[in-house]
Amino acid sequence: MAEFDVIVIGGGPGGYVCAIRCAQLGLKTACVEGRGSLGGTCLNVGCIPSKALLHATHELHEVHENFEKMGLMGAKVKVDWAKMQSYKQDVIDGNTKGIEFLFKKNKITYLQGWGSIPAPGQVKVGEEVHSAKSIVIATGSEAASLPGIEIDEQMVVTSTGALSLPKVPKSMVVIGAGVIGLELGSVYRRLGAEVTVVEYLDAITPGMDGEVAKGLQKILSKQGLKFVLGAAVSGVEKTKGKATVKYALRKDESTHEIEAEVVLVATGRKPFTGGLGLEALGVEMLPRGQVKTDSHWATSVPGIYAIGDAIVGPMLAHKAEDEGMAVAEVIAGKHGHVNYDVIPGVIYTTPEVASVGKTEELLKQEGRAYKVGKFSFMGNGRAKAVFQADGFVKILADAATDRILGCHIIGPGAGDMIHEICVAMEFGASAQDVALTCHAHPTYSEAVREAALACGDGAIHA
Ligand code: NAI
Repeated sequence: MAEFDVIVIGGGPGGYVCAIRCAQLGLKTACVEGRGSLGGTCLNVGCIPSKALLHATHELHEVHENFEKMGLMGAKVKVDWAKMQSYKQDVIDGNTKGIEFLFKKNKITYLQGWGSIPAPGQVKVGEEVHSAKSIVIATGSEAASLPGIEIDEQMVVTSTGALSLPKVPKSMVVIGAGVIGLELGSVYRRLGAEVTVVEYLDAITPGMDGEVAKGLQKILSKQGLKFVLGAAVSGVEKTKGKATVKYALRKDESTHEIEAEVVLVATGRKPFTGGLGLEALGVEMLPRGQVKTDSHWATSVPGIYAIGDAIVGPMLAHKAEDEGMAVAEVIAGKHGHVNYDVIPGVIYTTPEVASVGKTEELLKQEGRAYKVGKFSFMGNGRAKAVFQADGFVKILADAATDRILGCHIIGPGAGDMIHEICVAMEFGASAQDVALTCHAHPTYSEAVREAALACGDGAIHA
């Protein structure tokens, strides 16, 4: 039995970042992980592999759509799916091995196996029980399916199966027009599959700024994705070589069916806390399955903390990372803080979509007086030069004080550009502060400055 200051259960972005910060703060730290490699869903079967496939298929799209326009002629590029899969695996391995290296560098003990908490201050991994002054639950989430749908990860898949299909299907139905559905739907569309996205609500990407959601749907439709909105899926029936998705349109309750080789179920995720022994410990849970925590990530049992997808809040790797760092500070007797008002969200389609802060819909609900500064990438020289002029930047600022309340971008590099506004919001900046900041030319970021200018006396290139 080894003794630690902290044992973190879960080696995903929340857990491994927490472990590294704990070690940096001088705490004797261990991290438990059962899947055989560090990095959690994000690095193994989520963000990172999907970005590899998004990148490869984006390049393919460029070859087919834009190379000739730029005078790049030549033989047609063919897809070697097995090779693309092994490229994806190399990307995963490189990243997960990198975390193992960071663990060694920071002298963190990597306990391989599934962990449980038999009693406060104890963590059991395999047959061994270790003791820890503090325990952090960072066990993440798992795909949430729908009643009437049996996942086999072959024909009816979650994102995990969709990242490793044995071949590119001719047709795919995606259930749910959220982040996973649109990213992986884009991958297979670019590879030539007929992709139909069936969504319960009347708009895609729930919670996103309405104008951006409409803009994104229009652009993705142009790329060949089909959308059935306002459709409640009731089940999926499998026959030889085909799956049939059954849905009812909410407006008239008419029932419909659609067939595909593969069905991707992307209807959200749920906290993964099974097997930890939380019930026996009396750890208080919330009705939707999350571990209940206070503002310092402490659960109802002293010495046990929880972070990331296992607690409330957006299920995002970077939110978990921030909580991981903050809870480490708290455990080390310092001050840990996460500003939940400034957590960016990104969808890695082409073009990318990024947002932070309030949407127009939220500001209207709150009855807050705001102004809108909008700038289209049509007025951005760099975007036009690379066939990426679809989309816009929209900044929302307080009508009286000009303080930035939110920003929504659909366009090239949106996921990187959003951070300029995140920093501005952390500093309580006004739109004018951004507008008065010199931005290099020619960059996509100039569109952010132009949107900020549009909150005042007007954009220059509009
Ligand atoms: P999501 O919550 O983003 O979207 C699920 C969609 O399914 C919603 O639009 C919902 O209305 C729809 N839906 C639910 N029941 C339905 C039904 N019966 N019929 C039709 N549609 C139905 O969930 P998603 O895309 O599965 O992602 C899970 C989590 O992973 C999210 O929290 C997401 O933020 C995170 N994630 C983030 C990524 C990123 O930051 N780029 C990438 C991938 C996942």
